[in-house]
This record gives sequence, C-alpha cells and structure tokens, in this order.
Amino acid sequence: MRKDKKAEETLELMNFTDSAIVILGASGDLANRKLIPALARLHQTGSLKGLSAIIGTGRSGFTTESFRNKFDIPPDFAQLLSYHQGIPGIRAHIRKRGKFSRLIFFLALPPKAYAPMAEELKREGFGEEALLIIEKPFGYDLASARELDTRLSRGFQEHQIFRIDHYLAKEAVQNILVFRFANSVFYPVWNSRYIESIQINAFESGKVENRAQYFDGAGIVRDMVQNHLMQLLSLLTMEPPVSLDAEDIRAQKTALLKTMKVQKMCRMQYEGYRDEKGVAPDSTTETYAELQLSIDNFRWTGMPVYIRTGKALGRKGTEIGVRFRSLPRLLFNKDGDLPSNQIIFKIQPSEGIILDLSSKNPGEGIQIRDTSMAFCYRDAFAKEEIPEAYQRLLLDAIKGDRTLFVGAQETELSWKILEPILSRTDFTTYKPGRTPGPCVTDQWIDFDRYKDICG
Ligand code: BG6
Repeated sequence: MRKDKKAEETLELMNFTDSAIVILGASGDLANRKLIPALARLHQTGSLKGLSAIIGTGRSGFTTESFRNKFDIPPDFAQLLSYHQGIPGIRAHIRKRGKFSRLIFFLALPPKAYAPMAEELKREGFGEEALLIIEKPFGYDLASARELDTRLSRGFQEHQIFRIDHYLAKEAVQNILVFRFANSVFYPVWNSRYIESIQINAFESGKVENRAQYFDGAGIVRDMVQNHLMQLLSLLTMEPPVSLDAEDIRAQKTALLKTMKVQKMCRMQYEGYRDEKGVAPDSTTETYAELQLSIDNFRWTGMPVYIRTGKALGRKGTEIGVRFRSLPRLLFNKDGDLPSNQIIFKIQPSEGIILDLSSKNPGEGIQIRDTSMAFCYRDAFAKEEIPEAYQRLLLDAIKGDRTLFVGAQETELSWKILEPILSRTDFTTYKPGRTPGPCVTDQWIDFDRYKDICG
C-alpha cells in the first residue's frame, strides 16, 4: 500500500518531457479516427511539447513510412510517428526512438485482449514506467470486471491504469463540479429536502450501425448506464470532495455508488433490431431502457433518480434535469398548479445551463408565466475552442492526471448496482425514430421544450 502511494507520488512529480505513447492496435479504427487526429491537434496547439515519440504497433505489417502515410498529418508531426509490428522486439524499437521515463500504452484493442496484452507487456519487462489506458467495456458484469481488474493488477498497480470514460472529458460534464462547488447559491438546496427528482436523458437517433455485434452482446444498460450515466450521476450527487485531487474525487464517487439501488426498470427494443446485420434473430437485447434509482444516504434519501437512454430515438441529446419541490399551496400556488423550478444541464449536442423560473406577465393583474434563464456556452465562450474529448484525455494521461479516469472500485460498484437487472430478458418494442412514452414514471421533465435553447 505504502509502496503504491510512493510510486504514485513519483509518477506525479515526473516531468513529462520524456514520454512516449505506444498505441497498441494502431492500424485500427480508433487510432485512425480519434487518437492520431487528437494527438496531431495537440501537437499543432503546442501542448505536446513533452511527448517525443508516438509508436504504433499492431498485427499489420506497416513500415514507419507507410504508417505515417496513412494519415493526413503535417510533416513535423509525422516525424514523431513510428511503427513496429507486434510486441516482441518493441523494447528495442522504443529504445531506438529515445530514452523515456514514461511509456503510455494505449490499448486500442478489443476488450478481451486487455488482460492478455497487459500480461504480455509485463513479460516483455515493462513495469513502473508504464501507464495503461483502456476503454470501456471494463467487463461484462461484476464477476468479469473483477477478473479483469485482478489480471491487470498482477502486472500493474492501480495508479498505472487509466480507464477512459469519454463523458468525463466533455466540457459540460466537467462544469457540473464547478456549478456545484463554485456557486454558493445552489449549495444549501442540493438535497432531497428541496429537490424532488433528478432525471437524466441520453438519447441517440442513430441505430446500432456497424457495432451490432458488440452491442447485441451488451445492450444499452451495459453500454451507457453502467459507465457514462453513472459517472454523470456521481458528479451531480456526490458529497464535496476533500480536495480536487483525483483520489479525493474518486473517494466521494465511490462512497455515493455504495448507496445506490435500482428500484424499477423497463426495457425496450426497436422494431427491426433483430434484422440488423450482426444481431441474433431471437435477440432480447434492450436498445432502450428507463430506470428508477434511489440514493440511500442522508442527503438524497427519498428522492428518485430517473434515467432514460436508447438508440433509434426521435432525436439525439444528453440532458440532466433537476426538479425542485413545489411551493406550499399558498399565495400564487393556492391551486397547486405553479410549475416547479427546474435546472437543466444541457450536455450535448449544445452545452448550457437553464434555470426555469415563474415570472409575472407584464400588464394588469397578476398572471404568472414560465420563463427561463439560460447560460449557453455558444454565447458565453464564443472564442474558446471546446477541445475534443480524446485531446483532453490524452493530454491528462500524458501529464499523469487521473481526475478524468475511472477507478476500479467505481467500475465494480456500478456493475454491482446493475447486477439485479442485467439478466432480464423481457421487453416491449418501439418504432425507430420515435421516443417511447414513459414507462417507469410519468414524472418526466419535458426536455423537448429546451431543445432549441442554446442550440
Ligand atoms: C459509447 C457507446 O460509449 O458512447 C455508444 O458505446 C454511444 O453506443 C456513445 O453511441 C455515445 O457517445 P456520445 O459522446 O456520442 O454521446
């Protein structure tokens, strides 16, 4: 334990002027679409000063030259790239490229290859100098997530493992912590005494497309809820961390996840899903789910959390709604019809925060109207470039900052929360292109109302 802490401090203090990134699976789609373009952009903005080599490896037989030619990149960035086929001999290749005190291995590989690859790297003699970046899914359920963590931990310590959740790198997601802990006005009301429900929507209009094979074995709960949406919810409801250090933030997310339970869930599948290429003809995989969760701690007890997510829906959008409790039936609310205040966090495709307020309609008498105050990124930060998620994640990994990466315990706890519903096979169907009506609650915030604000 102590050794782990010490090693971690050393890593934190290490200057990153002598790092190299090794992309395992460099001839694949992720490297092509996301990693190399993100690194090229970071290079262009001068943020990669400390990174002196980008080494691609994979099964394909590229030469360094043909590997560089695969990408549309400026020549000075291309100089950083080299290629080595397979793992045997990679140490010698790296040594030829320079002397590095930190090696960042990005496992752009199918998930079943994570543990064997970590073991192979260990056999090749990589140790304290290595960081491993891996993408979800981290396991298929609690047992397989634990097994993966155990196998990774045989060769590498937890502080060397960076689990990506690309939602954490979204600007509007990072802003949740700032909103909560840098604005005194919301602090006293952030609890179940004042908040009636928290609702998260993550809608996609696209179908499973070319990922049917992966998706059919997973379903929307494993694909979106276990990771991205649990992380959003954690940031929104965790206790204030002792400091902004990655470990202190993780500690609070972990404490929160220990108190969550699924109360209800319904699952649906879009019509025609079973005919998609790569989908089993008798598949019971859910492409849409609604969940009701509880958080059984002092702050949140008695307040439901609703989550809705799916594919092939009426529109694409991720939003969080926080609905406040209604006022006593007095004054303007004698009839109990005054709308409750709501805060909407728009995460994507446009970013912003909207506060719903009741206001007096101008003119004679008192008529109350629903009005909104909106802070839109588009207007407030017109000049700032919003970095692409992988740029931010790669840069943080290069710096050794783990704040935006997910810990083993968080991953396992999220699986544990969902464990009771993962084996369900019941479902109803919905028409693609149409968002199904509510099924676990009829208390949904009408998010469509906000779709043009900040858009
Ligand atoms: C991925 C899921 O993690 O997130 C995909 O595997 C999903 O199924 C994607 O489409 C959504 O990401 P974003 O950033 O487009 O909301």
